[in-house]
Amino acid sequence: MEITMDQKFLSSSWPNLQFVPESFVHPPEKRPGKLLFARTCKTIPVVDLEAHDQTQIIQHIMKATQEFGFFQAINHGVSKKLIDDAMGVFKQFHAMPTKDKASQRSKDPKRSCKFYTSSQNYSAEEVHYWRDALTHPCYPLEECMQFWPEKPFRYRKVIGEYVIELRKFGEKILEMLCEGLGLSRSYLSGGLSGNPELMVNHYPPCPDPSLTLGLANHKDPSLITILLQEENGLQVFNDGEWIGVEPLPHSFVVNVGYVLQIISNGKLKGAEHRAVTNSSFARTSAAFLIYPSNDSLIEPAKALTNACYPPLYRAMQFKEFQRNFLCRGANAELVLQFISSQQSYST
Ligand code: OGA
Ligand code: NI
Repeated sequence: MEITMDQKFLSSSWPNLQFVPESFVHPPEKRPGKLLFARTCKTIPVVDLEAHDQTQIIQHIMKATQEFGFFQAINHGVSKKLIDDAMGVFKQFHAMPTKDKASQRSKDPKRSCKFYTSSQNYSAEEVHYWRDALTHPCYPLEECMQFWPEKPFRYRKVIGEYVIELRKFGEKILEMLCEGLGLSRSYLSGGLSGNPELMVNHYPPCPDPSLTLGLANHKDPSLITILLQEENGLQVFNDGEWIGVEPLPHSFVVNVGYVLQIISNGKLKGAEHRAVTNSSFARTSAAFLIYPSNDSLIEPAKALTNACYPPLYRAMQFKEFQRNFLCRGANAELVLQFISSQQSYST
């Protein structure tokens, strides 16, 4: 383990910070500035998954994802107690002393369980982001759980249950999206959703939130992402403005990622989003990112392309997408060039 790393964990240094260190100050055009809490009357649609008419639910989901790339799900079937327990354990993890957190990672040969500040590319970044993150794979559970954090002691038990429920919920959403797109219900089951990962973000209070960001503007490299959040901070870019996603207790925020954009041949598109910080409290969010397994072929579904709707994106294995996303992810235009069927990119 790198020795200097400990000083880099935000959560260990923020109590002593009176101002934002220069390496976290973003150039003026990228700062949230005065738009920190976006004042807009637009809101991200809320979908009640227990509404009676299944066809209407699907229409609602399709409309929301087409307009915003995002929706909030309520009455989703995951118990409130489990959600509270999971969020409690995530907060406990980030509240542990630095050495405990650092010791929870890198125990398997593939280093699948990671803990870092800003991004995995910290040392190559020009400017850092105001967050710590814990990430690890979630499937198959029996294989990956042994590398999850052992502390807090309830982590594996509670998050094991949480992940099982989120896979079920994710499957339900994917089936409905398939129906809405006109694909067979199970089109996205199996390999295309075979590698979910959990990313537990922690944004400590920030001395001046107008100068920095918790997470850069980005679109997720997933099929879909299911986010648990309890406090304000997530913003979605829509029609030229940033819309704050107001947390509803025990709800999930669902959003479209690049992989679904490719498979749906652009019928559904990922939306840019970011996380802003605040000066009064720490915010914790947990993203359940549903990724394809590495060898899955991702391409526009044949049923959605024809002479009038030619494929907008080219076919590639997910691992190729992921490898290229790593260096282009921060720039939506470069990602688009890379996935485009026109192949105007250079590697
Ligand atoms: C993410 C993400 C938003 C948040 O993890 O990809 O967009 O509010 N998180 O933490
Ligand atoms: Ni995201």
